[in-house]
Amino acid sequence: SEGKEILPRPPVVTVMGHVDHGKTSLLDSLRQTSVAANEAGGITQHLGAFVVSMQSGASITFLDTPGHAAFSAMRARGAAVTDIVVLVVAADDGVMPQTLEAISHAKAANVPIVVAVNKCDKPAANSERVKLQLASEGLLLEDMGGDIQVVEVSALKKTGLDNLEEALLLQAEVMNLKARVDGPAQAYVVEARLHKGRGPLATAIVKAGTLVCGQHVVVGSEWGRIRAIRDVVGNLAERATPAMPVEIEGLKGLPMAGDDIIVVQSEERARMLSAGRKKKFERDRLLKISNGRAEELEQSEE
Ligand code: GTP
Ligand code: NA
Ligand code: MG
Repeated sequence: SEGKEILPRPPVVTVMGHVDHGKTSLLDSLRQTSVAANEAGGITQHLGAFVVSMQSGASITFLDTPGHAAFSAMRARGAAVTDIVVLVVAADDGVMPQTLEAISHAKAANVPIVVAVNKCDKPAANSERVKLQLASEGLLLEDMGGDIQVVEVSALKKTGLDNLEEALLLQAEVMNLKARVDGPAQAYVVEARLHKGRGPLATAIVKAGTLVCGQHVVVGSEWGRIRAIRDVVGNLAERATPAMPVEIEGLKGLPMAGDDIIVVQSEERARMLSAGRKKKFERDRLLKISNGRAEELEQSEE
């Protein structure tokens, strides 16, 4: 069964919730624990993801690009990288419109939710009210006999973070997350940026297989040869395995979040595939514009 080894992999987690309920603060607090765990003395570069490593040896990959728009854009492009959504609800504010939006995004993507009731340090915090609100929105919470875990946290005071991480690992265990490790990588771009000296850089997450330095790749409609792979603390790596966020260098153009990464045999093949995809994207774009014009015309005729 060479090349077919299926192994457990860490969960990939995205944080969602209403504006100002503490998504960024929570990610920052979790990231700080990850920095401590990695003993890197501070993450020097910005990667669109980070990893929390537990003493048990288990780890959790957090995607740093929150926002419902990013989540649905990636999903629309077929990039189903998120295993679990952490739904952040402020304990004083309760369920709000974007909380409901996040719930429907998670449901549509068939991604399980773990609720983090945040700002529990506030005098006006009322997590019981939050739970009742969520229940009335149809979430089957654990306290009420369902299987959605609810954890009380304070991103500000850094309390409850261990419990949240435990809840995520438990959820992951239930999901029995596994991936093929050997063989060509199937990966997705989470975030991309242009670096002055190093050129286009893409934060990528491997879904299956292994991405190896030196491989020829097609990324969305771009292509390149992987010149360097860096892990979340910026160390050079030879390869990237499932659920391990990495930064890849060596692309000829800037890809987009949600782009797929496929490994090909040669530069010639990479160029060809990229050119074909560019043509197709351009056709789709023109079709969209002309459809838009047709709609405009119809409307002006009405
Ligand atoms: P957007 O990205 O704008 O939607 O906001 P967000 O959800 O990322 O919230 P953010 O982390 O920016 O926090 C919003 C405000 O709430 C900030 O003033 C934070 O300091 C505050 N805040 C976040 N978490 C906590 C918490 O646990 N307790 C208290 N008291 N305040 C918090
Ligand atoms: Na904010
Ligand atoms: Mg934010």
